[in-house]
Amino acid sequence: MTLSARDAYELWAASYPPVAHNPLMRIEQDVVESLLAHISARRALDVGTGSGRYVPMLKATGASTVLGVDFSLAMLRRGTAAPGRVCGDACRLPFKRATFDLVNASLMVGDIADLGAWTREMARVLATGGQLVYSDFHPSWAQRGWSRTFKSADGATHDVSFNPHTIDDHLAALERAGFGVRTIREPRFNPTHGEEPGILAFRRRWGNPQVVVVFHAVKEP
Ligand SMILES: C[S@@+](CC[C@H](N)C(=O)[O-])C[C@H]1O[C@@H](n2cnc3c(N)ncnc32)[C@H](O)[C@@H]1O
Repeated sequence: MTLSARDAYELWAASYPPVAHNPLMRIEQDVVESLLAHISARRALDVGTGSGRYVPMLKATGASTVLGVDFSLAMLRRGTAAPGRVCGDACRLPFKRATFDLVNASLMVGDIADLGAWTREMARVLATGGQLVYSDFHPSWAQRGWSRTFKSADGATHDVSFNPHTIDDHLAALERAGFGVRTIREPRFNPTHGEEPGILAFRRRWGNPQVVVVFHAVKEP
């Protein structure tokens, strides 16, 4: 049975530490962290923050305000007890327009069916000139029919639904919402991510396609 995102995160939270805990997250974090390292911000928001993996990296931008929003109370409870963790829906954020100058959203937009509405909401809460950094499962996933799975604390494996988005879907949504795209990165597994048997088997079977896509865009005047 394939779980909805909401049901999945309730179960997944117990085994979801606030660090990159699988090869996909490590490859994604390498790219996102290097982009964030070049950004200075005062007010940063982490959308779909989960257990708060990106909160320390958003603080490192110099931001004095760092908030994380997530619709899963179980995931929010899994994070550190730091203040600034808010329960809310990414497509109806509980913030006024132009509240932030940096929004990060890591590996959560695959849970969003209406990419256009999500992107408009990111634009709404960002000030002009504000920066959006986000990652998604690469279109390779849908092209190759990969399923998204996780192991719950009891060791059972579960399938989770996700909404595949093409690169063109992302670019069109960003343009319509008034963003200018600065960077698109599509990393693959390479030896710096370790030579775990699972990755080697994956590369033998699939020929090492891109697994994640990361965007950096700026809200234009
Ligand atoms: C794969 S996890 C990623 C968590 C964190 N960003 C990270 O990379 O470690 C996706 C997170 O997005 C949250 N999420 C999914 N859809 C959401 C929505 N519509 N509104 C708010 N949070 C959402 C989930 O509850 C989950 O915590």
